[in-house]
Amino acid sequence: MKNIFGNHLPKEDHKAETKEFTILSNGIQMPMIGLGVMHMHGNECVRAICEAVDAGYRMIDTAAIYGNEAAVGKGIRDSGIDREKLFITTKLWVQDADERHAKAAYEQSLRNLGLEYVDLFLIHQPLGDIYGAWRAMEKLYEEGKVRAIGVSNLNSGRLVDLSMHNRITPHVNQVEIHPFYSQEKAVQEMKNLGVQPEGWAPFAEGRNNIFRDKVLADIGQKYGKTPAQVILRWNIERGVAVVPKSSKPSRIRENYDVWDFRLTKDDMTAIQKMEGGRELFFEHDSPELARMFGNYRIH
Ligand SMILES: NC(=O)c1ccc[n+]([C@@H]2O[C@H](COP(=O)([O-])OP(=O)(O)OC[C@H]3O[C@@H](n4cnc5c(N)ncnc54)[C@H](OP(=O)(O)O)[C@@H]3O)[C@@H](O)[C@H]2O)c1
Repeated sequence: MKNIFGNHLPKEDHKAETKEFTILSNGIQMPMIGLGVMHMHGNECVRAICEAVDAGYRMIDTAAIYGNEAAVGKGIRDSGIDREKLFITTKLWVQDADERHAKAAYEQSLRNLGLEYVDLFLIHQPLGDIYGAWRAMEKLYEEGKVRAIGVSNLNSGRLVDLSMHNRITPHVNQVEIHPFYSQEKAVQEMKNLGVQPEGWAPFAEGRNNIFRDKVLADIGQKYGKTPAQVILRWNIERGVAVVPKSSKPSRIRENYDVWDFRLTKDDMTAIQKMEGGRELFFEHDSPELARMFGNYRIH
């Protein structure tokens, strides 16, 4: 498929050959690892982005509701890299998730970021008028204002339904994925639909003592890698893009240093057995969450 943003892509990118990138259904390249920046603000966020770009990251994951788009924009500029070499994601908050407001919210995010376009614009939650919002996002995409559009936190049923009743199938679905909630079936369904799976909270935000988990530590020991690196590799090897968050320079580097080892089938099976069968954070179908997020205003 012809890339509407062809002239924004780097002319040559050798990294594509090393699987640091995936190709979305519309033909554009998306890095497999990005820096998550939730809860990072001001200089901490700027410094983390500079460190990440220096370490090799080419993707940054923010959202309107994180309240840090301006700091992300400053980080991008301060990093000194050509903007075209980066893949920037932001997300549409529930308050703006309808056909009338989605475009204005996108333009506000661009102003906050100080960018002319983002690479990936996601509907943040399966709440509000997401069908109306999706039609507005399809328009933004077809007008060449955004390189890819997607969703976040959609279960398989919602994802199929949204795809069936609209022109464009989401390019990405970003959902909670970590060893305690691998979402194996949902990941497979996304792949069947041509939707790139992307995992948020790949470390389960440190819950269940994940950084000291014996299964992960034993696997890592064989390759001289940490549990964090094993988790990221496990996701990448099953085709799931990841957005680990860290504000610490050494961990930012550690989390990108995953390209020089490969897990065995037994390693993958052992990690799969850590499955807990349910989400650790939000129940996206719950009335409490619908009320809480539905009432959460960002402007
Ligand atoms: N779409 C959605 O609804 C949604 C929801 C949640 C998150 N997200 C995205 O996903 C990103 C990541 O998720 P998250 O921030 O919730 O959690 P996470 O990436 O699973 O975990 C982050 C935590 O792990 C620590 N950490 C990072 N690397 C480490 C390492 N190598 N060793 C030990 N500790 C390490 C960080 O501490 P330090 O910073 O101190 O290193 C931080 O406390 C977010 O930033 C956001 O971009 C999206």
